[in-house]
Amino acid sequence: MKPLNRNDVCWCGSGRKYKKCHEAFDQQIEHYRLKGFQVPTRAMIKTKAQIDGIRESGLRNIEVLDTVAAKICAGMPTSEIDRIVEETTRKLGGIPAPLNYEGFPKSVCSSINDQVCHGIPSENDILQEGDIVNVDVSTIYGGYFSDSSRMFIIGETDPAWKKLVEVTHEAVIKGAEIVKPWGFLSDVAQVVSDIAKANGYSIVREIGGHGVGLEFHEDPWVGYTEPKEPGLLLAPGMVFTVEPMINMGLPDIFQDEENGWTIYTEDGSPSAQWEVTVAVTENGHEILAY
Ligand code: MF3
Ligand code: CO
Repeated sequence: MKPLNRNDVCWCGSGRKYKKCHEAFDQQIEHYRLKGFQVPTRAMIKTKAQIDGIRESGLRNIEVLDTVAAKICAGMPTSEIDRIVEETTRKLGGIPAPLNYEGFPKSVCSSINDQVCHGIPSENDILQEGDIVNVDVSTIYGGYFSDSSRMFIIGETDPAWKKLVEVTHEAVIKGAEIVKPWGFLSDVAQVVSDIAKANGYSIVREIGGHGVGLEFHEDPWVGYTEPKEPGLLLAPGMVFTVEPMINMGLPDIFQDEENGWTIYTEDGSPSAQWEVTVAVTENGHEILAY
């Protein structure tokens, strides 16, 4: 990379002079890189204007989830969740990001009980009293991507299942709240894995979170199992998801061979997931979709 002069326009796309924009940032990154830490690439750093766009997208994503929350109930086929998500997203001026994404056939993922993630809405999957279901909504609005998911408990469920849902929520919120500039991605994994472990749960290893904003799935990949190393340095302008999948039983999973998407727990135990999109700010973090 050719070094910029202080009066050159910054590499980030803000249009500002380098010295008034990312010069100090680059010095900080270089400081950590020389110490041997993994540091973010420039492609991972968003401008304020881009984060504003992702926030607008996230507000629509939240509204779509709120609409699902108001309507979801026992007896509803998951195809109806898909219909609500598609209709609401389009009414808000957005596009459902999952639709046709790598061949995914629907506008939302709906994953019930032992389905870990990537459940495909179907008229044959009818929500039953006691089910726990993850509804994973992702929106493209103004060209920006946002991604968040919630768990819904249908009527009353087994107290142990309710606890799984609540603990997973706590893990995601506390994981997102630890995010700050010049921290590390492993801070999130440490918080999430400590909470899961303290409750006797396990964390899915193979599937993680991701950078998001200009694309649906960007670098970095974000894991939530007990970290062995600090991992990637966090810097202002990064935007990624916190979305651990937490199993009541063993961490092992398998993929549905017929549809090529849906992931299940190997032991049939229930799994929960919540997801937020979080930005690293100058002073801490901002949750952009919840
Ligand atoms: N929304 C999922 C995530 O959190 C991705 C689903 S990919 C899809 O990353 F194609 F199934 F939608
Ligand atoms: Co995601």
